[in-house]
Amino acid sequence: MSKYWSNFVTTLDPYTPGEQPPINNLTKLNTNENPYGPSPKVLQAIQHAADGDLRLYPPPNADQLKQTIAEYYQLNTGQVFVGNGSDEVLAHVFNGLFRQTQGILFPDISYSFYPVYCGLYAIQYSKVPLADDFSLDLSKYSRPNGGIIFPNPNAPTGRLLALDAIEKLLQSNSASVVVVDEAYIDFADSGSSAVALINKYDNLLVVQTMSKSRSLAGLRIGYAMGSAELIEGLERIKNSFNSYPLGHVQIAAGVAAFKDNTYFEQTRQLVINSREQLTQELESLGFEVLPSAANFVFVRHADYSAKDLAQSLREKNIIVRYFNKTRINEFLRITVGSEDQNQLLIDSLRSIIKS
Ligand SMILES: Cc1ncc(COP(=O)(O)O)c(C=O)c1O
Repeated sequence: MSKYWSNFVTTLDPYTPGEQPPINNLTKLNTNENPYGPSPKVLQAIQHAADGDLRLYPPPNADQLKQTIAEYYQLNTGQVFVGNGSDEVLAHVFNGLFRQTQGILFPDISYSFYPVYCGLYAIQYSKVPLADDFSLDLSKYSRPNGGIIFPNPNAPTGRLLALDAIEKLLQSNSASVVVVDEAYIDFADSGSSAVALINKYDNLLVVQTMSKSRSLAGLRIGYAMGSAELIEGLERIKNSFNSYPLGHVQIAAGVAAFKDNTYFEQTRQLVINSREQLTQELESLGFEVLPSAANFVFVRHADYSAKDLAQSLREKNIIVRYFNKTRINEFLRITVGSEDQNQLLIDSLRSIIKS
């Protein structure tokens, strides 16, 4: 608290990101980072871009990256928006599309940044409870609203919603913007993305990130895809906030990542295969594992408290995410790591459970 702050700053309840402790030998399975590094071609592009031209401002609209993303998803450049991580893109979405007379709707269990943005931009919201099995039932969203947002696959549950359920919602909800936050969609079956519906519904916005499936969390690149009308609204916000959210290096790396589809497909498949194996091994240790289409699993054990398990793992230098929140405080969210990391996790859990 400070007399120098604007009054509303004291009312903010900021987001707490997963830890990034500077400890060697840590098995970090707490923030859904990709265990495989970015494509070697991305690293080359970064080196190439790091030259004397850094004295120049980057192209404010990151045109080359937008064009690359548009081509990849068979959209027009005017249907793509880019920002400094999808968190920044989401902030602009809340600011530019969700400040309506009516409150917005999102699931009671979902990305915990959403209520934070609502606090920042004074947006009213209602949380719609997930079903008992933690699935998302979009029929519960058919009521007047100023916007709807949900992650798909959901976080932190990992559960995927089928595209036809999303289309049904779009058919019945045309008066407000529907945002599908697809941070983890590349770990689901191909064909699961709502990008396929963009040309049919002007009020659909799909937000994605290069942090997870493209292994560039450290570079901060996110993007949104939707009708030219929605994208123009976001551009107006962005150009009233920061004209250059992406630097030369980010743009070059982002373009290279989309061009190396072979590496993307290989690493994506490795993560998917490891998720399936990890699920089986956790189940054999007595964990209940929610069906996941993401690069993490959400698990609980009938006989062991999640909080204690997280603490015991921490003592073995393995960190996973524990949320001390109603409905999910029995669960751990565990990022799918490399094969070695997953094995270490399983061996450690086995020894904790047996001791
Ligand atoms: C559902 C969801 N959306 C968005 C993000 C933000 O990702 P980034 O800002 O790294 O693009 C995350 C990060 O964990 C997430 O889980």
